[in-house]
This record gives sequence, structure tokens and C-alpha cells, in this order.
Amino acid sequence: MGYRYIGSKSKIIDVLLKKIGDIVPEGAHVADLMTGTATVSMELRKLGYKVTANDLMTYSYHHAVSGLKFSKLPTFQRARDFVEQYYKPKENESSPTHYQMMINALNNSKPIKGYFWKEFSLSGKPSNTDKPRNYYSSENAAKIDGIRANIEKLTKNKALTHNEKSLILHDLIMGTNDVANIAGTYGHHMANLVGRAKDTLNLYPSNLLLKNDVKNHTVLQGYAEEVSSKISCDICYIDPPYMKRQYAANYHILETLARGDEPEAIGVSGLRPWRDQYSNFCTKTKIRDSFRLIFNNMKTNNFLISYSEDGLLSIEDFVELLSPFGDVYIDEFVHKRFKSNSSHLKNHLTEYLIHLNR
Ligand SMILES: C[S@@+](CC[C@H](N)C(=O)[O-])C[C@H]1O[C@@H](n2cnc3c(N)ncnc32)[C@H](O)[C@@H]1O
Repeated sequence: MGYRYIGSKSKIIDVLLKKIGDIVPEGAHVADLMTGTATVSMELRKLGYKVTANDLMTYSYHHAVSGLKFSKLPTFQRARDFVEQYYKPKENESSPTHYQMMINALNNSKPIKGYFWKEFSLSGKPSNTDKPRNYYSSENAAKIDGIRANIEKLTKNKALTHNEKSLILHDLIMGTNDVANIAGTYGHHMANLVGRAKDTLNLYPSNLLLKNDVKNHTVLQGYAEEVSSKISCDICYIDPPYMKRQYAANYHILETLARGDEPEAIGVSGLRPWRDQYSNFCTKTKIRDSFRLIFNNMKTNNFLISYSEDGLLSIEDFVELLSPFGDVYIDEFVHKRFKSNSSHLKNHLTEYLIHLNR
């Protein structure tokens, strides 16, 4: 089970954590302003920091809630009728947790030829194009529809707590991501079903980080430019998009899973209307103003920014942008690059960690 996310910091996490530890003491308040998969936020929580995680995307919100907001295993107390209906433990089965039972029940959801089957599988007939989209096997797409219908029913019946709902949507995203017929992002699907896309979709319980510290952590969803005015912290980590590729367009299906809606799926890729999640950080002429807004709005003395030589701004542009706000320190290191399978880009690139102290 994994998650290939453009710009994910899982590979450089040790360097990043060390840098944060050099700047602020243990227990300090760190804002992870563009949290993505929430990998960094979760690692910070492990080390005892107080974390505020934010991102524009709804799927990131669910990842962050799952990573930051559990102190004990969820009981799914209000969903017991649903679980009993869909999951009967076998006689010799060692007693599973309520969380495991909930996941088993969801895995037993009745397949439905619904929105995902119609718009995102080869057997489907998309509403506004003749060519079916091959993002999932037909069986998996119908299973996704069945699971989504059950989550919808549970929501209507108020059978899930806020955090429980985020957690099962997170697990749905992780599970479906394993069997998605894509080369890296959801910008395109493969022509034929390949590799793990042929496997049967199965959801698994997450390996939750259970600590009695959830009150220390906050999860937000919004534009960094706006959210920044609500945050006061010891250090703000910013990991912006580096390139023109908009996350909302490249991960549109994950966003649809996270929101639980059925938007119009447009064109060959089946994109949801995504302009409401357009990022200025993917447009060279807008990045500077967006950064300035964050620096002006947020109450903190330290910003740490990840950037790369591939980025829309050069490192010289960055220094020029940051210098009026304080002292700028740059760490440089070589990092293995995220590549879609078809990419001809070189394997390594220089990454920067830019510290702004004011
Ligand atoms: C490089 S990724 C972050 C990866 C993350 N550090 C991780 O390890 O998974 C950039 C993130 O910025 C988010 N983003 C882009 N523009 C944003 C904005 N204006 N406000 C908040 N988040 C934004 C994207 O949705 C994406 O998740």
C-alpha cells in the first residue's frame, strides 16, 4: 500500500526533521501549510511537536485527520448495525477490532454499477464522451460505488463521527490508489489494465499513530494565502508545488472520493471541474504575491520552504523574494526525483531547504 504523490517528502523526511529540530525546540508549534499526504505532519507529531496541518485539497484534509487526530482506535459505536449487517466474524477468527470489522464490512459492500463504474471503468458509458475511461477494472469500479453508497448512507444516518468518516475516506483513497490503472497521477489512465490494477480492491485499516495529544493538533483546509492569517506558530513549513501541474487536476479522482460527490466528468481524463482549487503556486507570475501574502499574514519568526531546481522560480529569484522579510539561509542536497513511468527526466535533482528568519 502506498501513495505516489508529486513532491511527497517521504524520501527526505530525515533531513527535513533534522533541519526543523535545529531551528525550534522539541514541543514547538509547527505549521505544515501545504501538507499533501500529511507525511511530514505525522512525523512531526511522532517527535512531540504541536502541529497545524493545512492544504487546499479535501483528500489531504482526511489524510491529516487520520494522521493527527486519533488517540485510540475508533469504535464505530454508532455504526454497529451496519457492521453486523455486512460482516459476520468466522467462528475460529481471533476477535478483530471494531475498526477492522468496519473495514471488513465496507469490503463486503454490494457492487453497484454507479458513477465510478460509468465514468471511470472500461465497461462504463461516460456521460459526455463516447470513449470509456479505464481508471479501474469494472469490478473494482462497481465495488468503489458500493462502498461509497454505504458511506453515504452511514453519513445520512449520522452513524459516523467526524474523525471516523475522515478515516474511512482516507482508507478508501489508499485502497483505491493501489488498484488505479495509472502511471503516476490521475491526469491520464493507461490504455489496458496493467499490474496491480488487475487485483481486487481491498481496503485495509491504517496503522494509526495513537497518542494522547490530539488537542495539540489542528487540521485546516483552505488557501495558504488566507489560512495563514489564522495561524500563530514557532515555524511554518511550506512545501509548495514546484511546477505548472495543478494538484486539483492531477488528483481529481482522489478529490471526488474525498468529497463523496458525483461531479460532471469532463473530457478524456474525466476531470472534475477543479478551478475552485486552482493554485497560484503553479503560475510563475502569481507565486511571488502569494508568498508575500503568507509572510505578511502569519505570526511566526521562521519559515522553512522546500523547493527544487525544477521549480518555476530559480533559487536566485527566491532569495530576491525573501530577502526583504529577513535573513535567508539555504541548504542544498541531491534527491531522487518523482517520475511518472513514461518520463524522460533525469533521475536526480537538486532540492533546497530555504530558511527565512525574521
Ligand atoms: C509538494 S505538495 C506537498 C507534499 C507534502 N509535503 C507531502 O509530503 O505529501 C504541494 C501541496 O500544496 C497544495 N497546495 C497548492 N497550492 C496551495 C495553496 N495555495 N494553499 C494550500 N495548499 C496548496 C497542494 O494541494 C499539494 O498538496
